[in-house]
Amino acid sequence: MATAPRRPLVSGNWKMHHDHIEALHTVRDLGLRLKPEDVARVDVSVHPPFTDLRTVQTLVEADNLPIGLGAQHCNDHDRGAYTGEVSPQMLARLGTRYVIAGHSERRHVFGMSDEAVAATVQAVLRHEMTPILCVGETGEERAAGQTEERLTLQLTAALTALDPGAVASLVIAYEPVWAIGTGTPATAVDAEDACLFVRQTVERLCGAEAAERVRVQYGGSVNAENAADFMAEPDVDGLLVGGASLDAATFVEIVRASQPGR
Ligand code: PGA
Repeated sequence: MATAPRRPLVSGNWKMHHDHIEALHTVRDLGLRLKPEDVARVDVSVHPPFTDLRTVQTLVEADNLPIGLGAQHCNDHDRGAYTGEVSPQMLARLGTRYVIAGHSERRHVFGMSDEAVAATVQAVLRHEMTPILCVGETGEERAAGQTEERLTLQLTAALTALDPGAVASLVIAYEPVWAIGTGTPATAVDAEDACLFVRQTVERLCGAEAAERVRVQYGGSVNAENAADFMAEPDVDGLLVGGASLDAATFVEIVRASQPGR
């Protein structure tokens, strides 16, 4: 598919790692290492645990760091009796720019349904933040030849209620569940095939313009050695990085490997 230039987004999903003191050190380190040329053509986000967000926000704003503040999840309601949850309104008030919606750990460990993911995407958009919608098949689904069927179901559930302009502004992360945290990434060719399929599905559901503009990340055992291979693929517009994003030096290497036309 012919592609207009899409600005890559490299996102660090810290999961349940780094308390707010460690977050302070990591983001300070990132701020020192990231050079203007590293971020001239690539967007960067970090997604710390909720308890770190205020600390990271303060540092990013005070030092004007070229890092987008991200969250890992949120509830789809703005307020209410939802013990333990955090609302999109609260995240927006902290200057959060990106919110991961439907990460496979939310889907598989916490039982988040396709419908709940769709509601989260809508809630994040309502507060003018950018959802990073995660989709991906399990190892069993892949072995059974059901990858495209699973992606279609997840995308259809999340996107059908949205207008095409909103879909164009989204980030979609293709993260095969079997590649997350396993040290066994997809091959670059398999990642490209799936990211292209995601884009074609967006085109079918929401039209050609949304498909041209939507950014599709690959995630699952990305590291400083394999990042450039994924980013060389035409339909991979960025990376969602877990374990390898916890160390600032490694994460900056991944950002450098993600430069367009490298
Ligand atoms: P990983 O995690 O890079 O540690 O495989 C990716 C993710 O879960 O987003």
